[in-house]
This record gives sequence, C-alpha cells and structure tokens, in this order.
Amino acid sequence: MTDFDTVDYFTDPALVPDPHPYYDHLRAKCPVTQEPNYGVWAVTGYEEAIDVLRDSDTFSSCIAVGGPFPPLPFTPEGDDITGQIAAHREQLPMHEHMVTMDPPDHTAARSLLNKLLVPSRLKENEEFMWKLADKQLDEFLDDGKCEFLSAYAKVFTLLVIADLLGVPEEYHEELRVNLAGGPTVGSIDKEIVPVNPLEWLDNLFSELISDRRSNPRDDVLTSLAQAKYPDGSTPEVIDVVRTATFLFGAGQETTAKLLGSAMQFMVIRPDLQDALRADRSRIPVFIEETLRMQAPVKSGFRLAKKPVEIGDVPLEAGSLVMVCPGAANRDPRRFENPHVFDLDRANFREHMAFGRGVHTCPGSPLARVEGRVSLERILDRMLDIRIDPDKHGSLTDPTFDFEPTFILRGLTDLHITYTPKY
Ligand code: HEM
Repeated sequence: MTDFDTVDYFTDPALVPDPHPYYDHLRAKCPVTQEPNYGVWAVTGYEEAIDVLRDSDTFSSCIAVGGPFPPLPFTPEGDDITGQIAAHREQLPMHEHMVTMDPPDHTAARSLLNKLLVPSRLKENEEFMWKLADKQLDEFLDDGKCEFLSAYAKVFTLLVIADLLGVPEEYHEELRVNLAGGPTVGSIDKEIVPVNPLEWLDNLFSELISDRRSNPRDDVLTSLAQAKYPDGSTPEVIDVVRTATFLFGAGQETTAKLLGSAMQFMVIRPDLQDALRADRSRIPVFIEETLRMQAPVKSGFRLAKKPVEIGDVPLEAGSLVMVCPGAANRDPRRFENPHVFDLDRANFREHMAFGRGVHTCPGSPLARVEGRVSLERILDRMLDIRIDPDKHGSLTDPTFDFEPTFILRGLTDLHITYTPKY
C-alpha cells in the first residue's frame, strides 16, 4: 500500500498506472499542497491552477518542463528573484525554447508561429490529414489487429507537423525513421541512422530555412524564414529553427497520447464506440472529454518570482509550483462525477489539458482536428474495434501500461483487434 503522504510523485512507479487517487488525496488535504520530497507545491485544484497559469508576472516558466530536475542553479534570496532568474537562465534546461521563456522574450518567440497557425494553413493541413489518415491505415488494415500507437498514432502526429511546417514530402520517410520510433517495413534507406533526433532536426531545419532566405519560394518554409519579430527585426536563423523543431517536441507525443487515450476509451467502453458510430457529430465532445479524463501533459512547472497567495496558501519567492492539468480536470468543485467519462457533460470545454495564460497551447486547434479526422476514418474503416485480449486481458479487467514519467500521461502500447471495412 502506497503512503500518499510520503510517496515520491516524481520517481515512484506505483503512481504511474493511476495517479488520480494520489491527486485526490492531495486536493482533499488542500488544493495547493507542498509535497515532502522536493518541497514542490502541487496544485490540484481547478481555480488555483488557473490562478497560477494566468499570472506570468508572478510565476516564471523558466522551469516549465523539468520542475525540480535539475535543482535550481542558485539559492533564491529576498522578495524578488527576477534578477537571479535572468542571471542564471542559460543554465536551465530548454532555456532556448519558448515554453521556458517569460514575456517579453516569450512574446517575441511565440510571434514567429503567427504565420503558421493561421486558418488558411490549418485548412491545407487538414486536407493533408484526411489523405494521411487513409495512407496510414492502408499500411496495416488487412491484418485485423495492430499496436495502435506505433502503427498509427506516432507516425500520423509526426507527419502532420512536418506538413504544417511545409517540410517537403521527400523528407517525410527520413523524419519517420528518425523520430517515430524506428524504421517502417520495406521502404527504408539503411544509411539513415538516427543520432540525436533533435540535433538532426536542427540541422535539417537550418538547411531548409537558410535555403529559403536566399531562394524564397511560394511555400510555408519561406514564410517562416521571412517571419519578423513584432518590433520589425529579423530573427537569427537558429531562432526560427528552434521554433520549428520545438513543434515536434511539443506536438507529436502529446497528440499521439491523445489518440491513444481516445482509442483506449473506445475499446474499454464499447457503449462510447457505439454512440460515436451512431452519431459522428459527437466526436468533438468525445475528444474534449478524453482530454479531460486523460490530459496528455501531466505536470507543468512554475517558479514564484515574488511572494504570492494561491487559494489561501502563502508562497514565498523561489517556491517551485507544479500544476497538474489532469488533477484540475477532475476537481469535483468544477466537474460533477469527475472520474466518469460523460459524453453529455455540459462543461466539457472547461478542461485544462491545453493549459491557460500566455503559454496556452498554440497547437490545440491542430490537435483537435487530428483527433477528429483520425476518429472519422478509423470508425469508417475499422468495425467492431476491441482490445486484444492476448495482450491486455479481458474487457472486464483489462491491464494497460503507462509511460513511466511525471511529465506526460499516456499508454506505452495499445493492442487492438477489428474487422477491416473496404
Ligand atoms: C493533445 C495534444 C496537446 C496537448 C495536450 C498539449 C498541451 C500543451 C500544454 C499544457 C502547454 C502549456 C505548457 C505550459 O504552460 O508550460 C502546451 C504548450 C505548447 N504546445 Fe501543446 N499540446 C498539444 C499539442 C500540440 C501541438 C499539435 C502543437 C504544435 C504543432 C503544440 C505546440 C505547443 C507549443 C509550441 C507550446 C509552447 C507555447 C508557449 O510556450 O507559449 N502542442 N501544450
């Protein structure tokens, strides 16, 4: 039996299969509670989470991804640590990516996305998704069974971002080999050996962006290469490159986890699958409720720059704060019967899976369309989708493995069976 008062949330595998009893325990003590192992303030309440995320004047994102790992490279002193953060920022992991930046640098970095995430580009990207969904399903449909994450979700979400960024299709197979977890059967150039995927991506985009700066064309990469900061200045090539490569880091695994969770709910709750088959207009609500029940981002971190009160809890400057979207999404003060997947939930849109405030996920429209397009084509082409009992046991008592990480929440694998429809 795990002792929730002493357990190490960050490393104890006991909390991985289902962190919700732990979140409920913390919230019942107080929606803002200090955990004992690293002194991190865990925010499990809905309103309290919003108060933290919306207040970027008080809370710095400099530790957004790693939280207490590694420990701060300085000892916070006094009632305003803004200067200390600035002095040590470059020692913090991922400091070069927008997710850890604070305004005004964050505002400038994020502005480079403005040309990408416009309605016309998203519409073209959706057209690509419809074709890609079928192409992906064609690869394994005949088999009548698959491991859904590697066969579909990881590749689909990767190539959608590649298309969004305008990466020419001739690079897609190479991307897939380097980033979607290993070679595809049959069509691979054996010379392509993945080294460090992000370094490989940085090199690819440096080449593409530099080329478009000297040889502009009518394509997405050119508009990205020509993007300017709000003050009219031109970013360094490397800053554009980081914006591009970060989208793979931020948008692939998260959305693959959303697709995996959606499929998991469809197979463990055949009534939900039936409801979607009977009325496809319920797909968007199904996706929102999936995001509420199983938020792909499990924990996000902030560092208090100044003393502040969250809920009724006073925090000192230098406090490490952890917002758990999955916990906020099941706060019973906000969501009735929070642990139940409910397609008729009135406030389904209020979940916080995409965060809040200046760092709110800019890819959320894309992730939602990826979910809708995938489910439409899956329901069209796979009938009677079930969990594979050889891998997950019976429907009455199935077992699933989740990725052992405190940052993301999603399955390691999901084996399904179905009847192909041609
Ligand atoms: C279901 C899928 C997704 C989920 C659950 C998700 C969740 C999140 C969350 C919670 C944040 C806020 C982090 C923070 O406040 O520290 C975030 C930021 C971000 N997401 Fe997503 N995301 C998803 C898909 C995507 C996609 C598809 C893209 C792009 C193609 C994307 C790009 C980004 C970027 C660039 C940021 C950083 C924004 C900033 O710092 O201003 N995400 N995401």
